[in-house]
Amino acid sequence: MDRILVIGAGGQLGTELTKALAHKYGNDNIIATDFQDAMKEKFEYCSFQTLNVMDKPALEKIVEKEKVTQIYHLAAILSASGEQHPLQAWDLNMGGLLNVLEIARDHKIEKVFWPSSIAVFGPHSDKQHTPQQSFKDPNTVYGISKLAGEHWCEYYFNKYGVDVRSVRYPGLIGYKSLAGGGTTDYAVDIYHKAVTEEKFVCFLSAHTYLPMMYMEDAVNATLQLMDAPKENIRIRTSYNLAGISFSPIEIYQSILPYYPQFEIAYQPDFRQQIADSWPNSIDDSMAITDWNWKPAFDLNAMTAIIVKNLPQYFNYKAHK
Ligand code: SER
Repeated sequence: MDRILVIGAGGQLGTELTKALAHKYGNDNIIATDFQDAMKEKFEYCSFQTLNVMDKPALEKIVEKEKVTQIYHLAAILSASGEQHPLQAWDLNMGGLLNVLEIARDHKIEKVFWPSSIAVFGPHSDKQHTPQQSFKDPNTVYGISKLAGEHWCEYYFNKYGVDVRSVRYPGLIGYKSLAGGGTTDYAVDIYHKAVTEEKFVCFLSAHTYLPMMYMEDAVNATLQLMDAPKENIRIRTSYNLAGISFSPIEIYQSILPYYPQFEIAYQPDFRQQIADSWPNSIDDSMAITDWNWKPAFDLNAMTAIIVKNLPQYFNYKAHK
């Protein structure tokens, strides 16, 4: 029987991925954990425990007691927050991963999922359709920790046979939870301003292209990767993954047909430099070849779903 532990389940990705895992494996086989106790209310449908991934004995206790067979380790400090707290980001992002990998090896966990990011690329990486093996010179602590983490994953696979799998997510956009601490967060926040009929002040400039993805695609990619036969997984660092690429002005224009009065202003801050160091678009041909990856949502499809569902989901006054 599969027993699934999700670490960082209360975050933007965890909120939706945990639900999908519960659908696939059954509510009773999911153990959602988060360091914030208050996240408990998101997980009425499955078991929830408060866990700080830095507490290795506590993590080990849950793995033993719950007879865990798969771990999805999502807890991390993202790019923008990481620049405010560099050493803390390094400690959590590296220390958490190493705790998970050690326990996965010692307890013969069948499969581990750990997300990497487009942040592994840097100013000297290819900008357009960035290849899997493009040169990487990440210049954020988050990106450095993801690149190092990718190599740790590969190391645990090669040396100890830990079946750890990973994708380099682009910016993830959904309406079921807020983003927090990332450089791509503007593309979540913009919808909240649109549906509450407020002006949006964007912290990136109008024409800053970044790779992005609708959350449903991200969840499906993760499930597909984890379902693929072991021998198909040729990349043991992390797979490039692509959905849509757009700029702030383009997402704004996709919202205008629904909210013609919606206004945007641009006030780039320190996150502009981070965004400028990342790719504009990603070549994910390895994911297509190895596990049949194919995204389903483009920008307009994503906007249509989000403007329709967000007001009710967040209990905003319905658009008149
Ligand atoms: N969305 C993340 C960030 O902006 C990138 O992985 O930090």
